[in-house]
Amino acid sequence: MRIEIQDLHVETAGRPIIKGFNLTVNQGEVHALMGPNGSGKSSLAHTIMGHPRYKVTKGDILLDGESILELPPDKRARKGVFLALQYPYEVSGVTITNFLRTAYNMIKYDGQKEKQPPTSYLEFRRLLKEKLKELNMDEAFAERYLNEGFSGGEKKKCEILQLAVLRPKIAILDETDSGLDVDALKIVAQGINLLIGPDMGVLLITHYHRILNYIKPRFVHVMLDGRIVKSDGEELAHLLEERGYDWAKKQSEQQT
Ligand SMILES: Nc1ncnc2c1ncn2[C@@H]1O[C@H](COP(=O)(O)OP(=O)(O)OP(=O)(O)O)[C@@H](O)[C@H]1O
Ligand SMILES: [Mg+2]
Repeated sequence: MRIEIQDLHVETAGRPIIKGFNLTVNQGEVHALMGPNGSGKSSLAHTIMGHPRYKVTKGDILLDGESILELPPDKRARKGVFLALQYPYEVSGVTITNFLRTAYNMIKYDGQKEKQPPTSYLEFRRLLKEKLKELNMDEAFAERYLNEGFSGGEKKKCEILQLAVLRPKIAILDETDSGLDVDALKIVAQGINLLIGPDMGVLLITHYHRILNYIKPRFVHVMLDGRIVKSDGEELAHLLEERGYDWAKKQSEQQT
């Protein structure tokens, strides 16, 4: 699968936020998207998932050549697009296990509900147990209510678990590294690395160079004021760390 974002323009609350954004992510590729606060990274992620507050005024988002702009968020998820939020919601009364089982069945059996019985609770528990073990997570974790009272690190781990169970084709991770101590960062990065492979394309939104010590992107993009101003290999992340976003901004101004 491939996601292509073409000359995307997006408004929210009557204000233009994304201003001519272009990017293609293929399954099997890891892209890092970096940029200062307010440059539009999360807005882009929400727009890709179809959040109703983000209005596309121009351009397109294609999955394998087909526009997904008219599809509601759940249809986009069923096609294999996944977003790990910068600020995950808390859902009281719903355990991680039940939440994941519902999502899993929805994605797995789309369009064939009549023919196939959904994965049973026990069957799903078995699958989940396997994934928890792979990711070195405690079994009891899955019995907690979704994100309720979770520490920042636990929320991020919960998202990695979702990735492992749902196995999306394109995963957008919005600051999955923020607020993590060094140990939690390692666990989260290891989890992501376990999942990265020919079947999954990743758009990793981050401010910090440090997660890139563990996850190696093939491409690094710098976003400023709603669009990509510079793209290069992994070394661009190091240059940014050294020189800051102002440097990237000046470079792009010189080019235009
Ligand atoms: N729902 C919204 N309503 C009003 N303004 C919004 C909304 N969503 C985004 N914005 C504005 O759009 C701009 C870009 O925000 P966005 O969250 O996309 O930035 P970001 O690059 O993710 O920043 P950060 O690095 O701080 O997470 C900001 O000025 C923000 O206030
Ligand atoms: Mg953000």
